[in-house]
Amino acid sequence: MSRIFINYRRQDSEGYVGRLYDHLTLHFERNDVFMDVDDIKPGADFVKTLEDAVSGCDVFIAVIGPQWIHSANDDGTRRLDDWNNFVRIEIASAIRMNKVVIPVLVGRARMPAHKDLPEDIAALARRNAFELSHQRFGADMMNLVEAIRAVPSSFAKPPIDATALREKEAALKQVRLDLVGATDSPLYQFRTENRLFPVLGEGSANANIMFIGEAPGKAEAQQGRPFIGPSGEILAEMLKSISLKREDVYITNLLLDRPSEDRDPTLEEIAFYTPFVDRIIDIIQPSVIATLGRFAMEYLLKRLGVTEKKGKISELHGKLMKATLPYGEIHVVPLYHPAAVLYSPTQKEMLKTDFQKLKLFI
Ligand code: URA
Repeated sequence: MSRIFINYRRQDSEGYVGRLYDHLTLHFERNDVFMDVDDIKPGADFVKTLEDAVSGCDVFIAVIGPQWIHSANDDGTRRLDDWNNFVRIEIASAIRMNKVVIPVLVGRARMPAHKDLPEDIAALARRNAFELSHQRFGADMMNLVEAIRAVPSSFAKPPIDATALREKEAALKQVRLDLVGATDSPLYQFRTENRLFPVLGEGSANANIMFIGEAPGKAEAQQGRPFIGPSGEILAEMLKSISLKREDVYITNLLLDRPSEDRDPTLEEIAFYTPFVDRIIDIIQPSVIATLGRFAMEYLLKRLGVTEKKGKISELHGKLMKATLPYGEIHVVPLYHPAAVLYSPTQKEMLKTDFQKLKLFI
């Protein structure tokens, strides 16, 4: 699933861009096509905001019209030469992040020469351009759509062979055995006295997307499977909204045994179970972990040293954050816990919107 960012200069190509956007949204989902970074909050670092917006795309379209290269401010200085020009910042970010950058020429514009571009966007001149002509707009668009479709999502995981998959499955089995036999667990006695099962997790051993919830509930511990009660129904609905099934992802929890009542996890429990969770992450090596609820979010952001770690879930939900693990780059998206949205249609809509972020990883 490719996500598309349209970069353009309003005075230069607005008419074409409207048509381009309408056509693209016939072939891609509306949520996957971005054209204006709005909502830059007062006091926010706008360069960082623009970089963040560009970092979420797979394909960056730089629309170049006839005035693009010469467009000037009131004092006659060329807009492209301003360090704080949005068009320039976005293109420079896309080039630096190695995005697929496609210059799209409209209104009979020509491709700018290397020497006419500021240093940080000079590499644009080497990108193969696409021409969108007025007369052949439909046919040109079809070619552009095909070119975009050929670009893989930058965060998709390459498939692994059957042997490597079996190794991962065996490693997960070992974690489960270790958990079953961990008699020093703070919840071991409660588990055995109540004939409950530990809940390691469920899904693909090579999933690209992993969910970490809070702790198994009663139904989950009776069956040894995560998220099978009412929260699980919400999770399944959310997964369906981005065309995924449970078996496409991996679902686990911060605590791998049911706490004695439906209460918050204690520090002792978190400290005991999270080394098991870390082992699961190391085996599966997902590109993104979606935390469900405050506890999993707090643990993971702290563990990964993410700078926003002190934020509240109401501020951080739906935000894509980057970190590094020994196996490579990883992203975290904090999400509300499905149980929290059970009785709130507004929060449920928010959760659905936040789930869209995960499409980058499909
Ligand atoms: N809530 C969770 O956090 N995890 C489950 O598995 C079920 C409900």
